[in-house]
Amino acid sequence: MCGIVAYVGSRRAYPILIKGLQRLEYRGYDSAGIGLIENNKIVTYKKDGKVNDLISFIGDSSTDGTIGIGHTRWATHGPPNQINSHPHSSSNGKFSLIHNGIIENYLTLKIALEKKGHVFISDTDSEVLIHLIEDVYNSLEKKSSSNNDLLYQAIIIALNEVIGAYAIVILEQGNTQEIFAARKGSPLVIGIGNEEYFVASDASPIIEFTNKVIYLNDGEVAKLNKNEDVIVKTIENKIKSPYVQELEQTLESIEKGGYDHFMLKEIFEQPKSIIDTLRGRINPKTNDIILGGIIDHESRILSADRIIIIACGTSWHSGLIGEYLIEDLARINVEVEYASEFRYKNPILTKKDVVIAISQSGETADTLAALELAKEKGALTLGICNVVGSSITRTTSGGTYTHAGPEIGVASTKAFTTQVTVLTLIALRLSQLKSTVERNNYDFLIKELRLVPQKIEKLLLQNDMIKEIALKFYKATNFLYLGRGVNFPVALEGALKLKEISYIHAEGYPAAEMKHGPIALIDDEMPIVVIANRKDNYEKVVSNIQEVKARGGKLIAIVTEGDQEVKSLADYCIEIPKCFREISPLLTIIPLQLLSYHIALLRECNVDQPRNLAKSVTVE
Ligand code: AGP
Ligand code: GLU
Repeated sequence: MCGIVAYVGSRRAYPILIKGLQRLEYRGYDSAGIGLIENNKIVTYKKDGKVNDLISFIGDSSTDGTIGIGHTRWATHGPPNQINSHPHSSSNGKFSLIHNGIIENYLTLKIALEKKGHVFISDTDSEVLIHLIEDVYNSLEKKSSSNNDLLYQAIIIALNEVIGAYAIVILEQGNTQEIFAARKGSPLVIGIGNEEYFVASDASPIIEFTNKVIYLNDGEVAKLNKNEDVIVKTIENKIKSPYVQELEQTLESIEKGGYDHFMLKEIFEQPKSIIDTLRGRINPKTNDIILGGIIDHESRILSADRIIIIACGTSWHSGLIGEYLIEDLARINVEVEYASEFRYKNPILTKKDVVIAISQSGETADTLAALELAKEKGALTLGICNVVGSSITRTTSGGTYTHAGPEIGVASTKAFTTQVTVLTLIALRLSQLKSTVERNNYDFLIKELRLVPQKIEKLLLQNDMIKEIALKFYKATNFLYLGRGVNFPVALEGALKLKEISYIHAEGYPAAEMKHGPIALIDDEMPIVVIANRKDNYEKVVSNIQEVKARGGKLIAIVTEGDQEVKSLADYCIEIPKCFREISPLLTIIPLQLLSYHIALLRECNVDQPRNLAKSVTVE
């Protein structure tokens, strides 16, 4: 959600900013802009639409500065138009700001500033912040004899007035040596080059220049002067010594590698990403599971009253599978909550609860806030995240990385299957500690888990056949997805994938619930996707399929290879390799991802950047 890029050094800033914004496009946005200092003056270009629209808009205009800021906006306050796009300027034009997040008390601040004569031209909360900084700066200037670090001080003082979330970068007219960056609740990374600095919402615009980075913490403000070391202060005005990390990410890992879309690449990467998730976590001789980030907390988990999983969207679906697996295998009570609901429902939490946050990005604002609440109440907090060093990983006491690698497609695919893999590992580990699963069965399950990557490889061979099925249904206006038990969340996830990228209305239901309402929707126009693998309430699902057929619904069934019964009933069948019930979601989801992908392509939708969606939702 929203992208920030900034540069100060001696190279031309413009190409760095534009390329950086393009690398951040996957996050989702609706307008873009850049600000540069040229001949000591701030020059701003902004445009609604995509980064390419901004490039055409700039055309041959001058873009020579060696310092600049760039932004892709995901509108929260005011429509996505040119005026509301970032950067925003102070009244005297001396300062320019890009902002990600929401200033919650912007209206109070705006009214106070208007009384002092400030005039606002946009609808945004962000413009209010840069006017506030200017206002503080002006009053400091009156009192102070030197201009040294006045802007740095003004930013710190202004941020103390602000309620809400922000990642900001600020330019000062006439100052070609330094930029200022601050964060609270929205991500920001600083890249350290040779007498140059980069700032971005994530590392993808930075890695081709440097692998030395600093992740700014909440409430920190950095001064980046190209001729000096980084200075970081807290908004309490205390100097902090920043922690410089080396990034392991490579440029290739964030490029398409021959696939037409990131989503397709990421679907096909799943065998590899699951191998990466499992790597080093199962002892090859004993089959024992070692999860380094959780091991110190195992006794507390075992004595917990319950585990509460908090997440949003796809991560919430993997949480539901986690609930099923942990309860079934380890016999520990699990509740799964939407983070956005949990944080405001005055939840009952005690020191005996364990809260696990699941998040691909590790930056989802609702999940982060729910986690902080759990921490405040004394619960043990753990994370299952993909992005190394993200906010959630830094807020929790422990956890497990999914190691899926960068996921660029807005619709989660490999993040989901690697989260489910981690949850399977956790459930199996706890089952071992509690002796709730017989050793023989445990060993079989581990063997099955290890076989998942090669079974997915086999499944992916059906891509062309799934494309054929997509051709039959891409004009449908509604879809129903049905599943039972551990495959009910897969039905939810399949429906979400279709909605997100093809804009077809789709609902996921527990198969047996269909007759309590959704069955009214079924007619001969309605495609119904049923997960009907063997070993998972098969006979019951077959009865549900009969109910669909009796009403003329068009049936696409996900069946276990060799199945005859459902095959004789369904209009189309996609076979998955034989597997245990507990492992099956890792396979049943694959054809549903591919089906959504092909339907979206046939409908000429933007698969990687669906309308209105953002990759990491850093606002409430
Ligand atoms: C997934 O396809 C979605 N784009 C969305 O539901 C996503 O899973 C959700 O926003 C949570 O994101 P997170 O995993 O980064 O916290
Ligand atoms: N709230 C700001 C706006 O609406 C920033 C949104 C963003 O994060 O892109 O302009």
